[in-house]
Amino acid sequence: MTNESVGENVGQNANQNPALERTLPSVPAPKSMDAIMSLCKRRGFIFQASDIYGGLNGFWDYGPLGAQLKKNLRDAWWQDMILNPCWGKKGPNGERVQCVPVETRIIQHPRAWQASGHVGGFNDPMVDCKETKNRYRYDHVKVYVPASGEPGDKPLFAFVPGTASEAKQLKKAEKAFGKADVVALTTILVERFAKVLGPDAEKVGSLTEPKQFNLMFKTYVGATAGEDDIAYLRPETAQGVFLQFKNVVDSTRVRMPFGIGNTGTSFRNEVTPRNFTFRSREFDQMELEFFCHPSESMDWFNFWREFRMKWWESIGLAGENLRLYDTPKKDLAHYSLAGSDVEYRFPFTSPDFGELEGVAHRGNYDLTQHQEHSKIKLEYFDQDRGELLPNGSKRGEKYLPHCIEPAAGLDRGVLAILCEGYTRDESRPSPEFLKLNPRVAPIKAAIFPLVNKDGMPEVADKLYEEIFARFGRTGFIETDAKQSIGKRYARMDEAGCPYCFTIDGETLTNQTVTVRDRDTGVQSRIGMDKVTAFMTEKLG
Ligand code: GAP
Repeated sequence: MTNESVGENVGQNANQNPALERTLPSVPAPKSMDAIMSLCKRRGFIFQASDIYGGLNGFWDYGPLGAQLKKNLRDAWWQDMILNPCWGKKGPNGERVQCVPVETRIIQHPRAWQASGHVGGFNDPMVDCKETKNRYRYDHVKVYVPASGEPGDKPLFAFVPGTASEAKQLKKAEKAFGKADVVALTTILVERFAKVLGPDAEKVGSLTEPKQFNLMFKTYVGATAGEDDIAYLRPETAQGVFLQFKNVVDSTRVRMPFGIGNTGTSFRNEVTPRNFTFRSREFDQMELEFFCHPSESMDWFNFWREFRMKWWESIGLAGENLRLYDTPKKDLAHYSLAGSDVEYRFPFTSPDFGELEGVAHRGNYDLTQHQEHSKIKLEYFDQDRGELLPNGSKRGEKYLPHCIEPAAGLDRGVLAILCEGYTRDESRPSPEFLKLNPRVAPIKAAIFPLVNKDGMPEVADKLYEEIFARFGRTGFIETDAKQSIGKRYARMDEAGCPYCFTIDGETLTNQTVTVRDRDTGVQSRIGMDKVTAFMTEKLG
């Protein structure tokens, strides 16, 4: 991602509406976000932060099921990026990929943010509406213009894609000049803003000139809280890695090429937080900075962009809702050599896609910046390079490594998983359910005695202990003896629990239980002694 586009980049490529720029296949009607959000609240996945005080715009909390789902996704990232990077696959150098973690603080030295370009540079141009006092990202606003000819004295109708202004302004534009085309506000000369009707305005000419807006939250460190004590909440986890690059190299046995991963909370004072958790003001990231020799950097870039796409597929986002979008050269930051985004078709971006993860080739920009600002040498001495010496060793080479950065949003990942999993099937007794990949599902299994008597609860308890001992670290194992069995299944379906095991009369005679598959509702019988093996096969 570029500094210019930090924040998110749904529909912000270039100066045009990406929906026009890219060819999008016709897609089924998007799922209802209202229904998804309502299920999330009802079943304890996601709540508005400070709900009892009316909520706080741009901040979201996770309930019991959401917190576990989010942990499972982060754990999956950690497992596949740090502990066993790329599932043990060899990289383009023919060797196993090597990565280590760091955990860095939210508040860093303020000079670090000057070096990274976030202070001063971490700005998004904004336009204000003098009439409604609304503020918009300049590069997010689109305008309906006549499909042919000049508008004459007719207004130009501005809107923000994905909001109510889109349809409202289209209606007005079609009334004013028949067929309308869409252009970006950035393509309209500021001198012509007097003719633009703002997205939510009643009168033309209310939009101001674009202004820079810093997205970093400010705070004070220390008791005096003066100008000299100003610090910033990090807007990305990536910079913590660059700041500790030298310490990691000096304190571990990592050798080029290698990655340093960092996960945690970032903050951006987004001007228009919206679309549920998609654009929040506080969110978690999972970032890897992968360092390599400049000559190998394009190979590693291609390797990572492909792996990251496969990884999201493995988590359950496979299909036509997921795609890899290569950033056009003209949209890359000045230091960036290449960039691709893993994008998901969220219900609110459909038929377009929204960014889930950016894979960026950052060259040696960050290490160069921090080297200059800190005056500490950050070059790497590579013993495996340089000419061969008579003693059989290499002379070595000193260089500033290039960096490939797969930067994923954890909250966006959770949101994509919930949107993908949400399913409505009117033919089922309880039509709503969540098809969650068992690896991330917060409840791994449920064990039900068919009735709360006849020795069934005791058998259920025994099976619970067994399953808990093996899978209890990866999620909840539920047991429930109340309500009808149909209602209990429906509750588990809504929570995305992949398997329910039921103890019934037959269990007491032949030691078998029923196993019910969430997605098909089909039940089969297996021996009680085979349940752990069954779960191991399904969950890994
Ligand atoms: N270090 C590079 C960087 O931070 P980014 O594309 O700005 O790049 C990486 O952020 C990921 O973080 C995005 O792909 C997105 O998933 C997530 N992200 C960014 N801004 C966000 C926001 N306001 N709310 C939720 N997630 C966000």
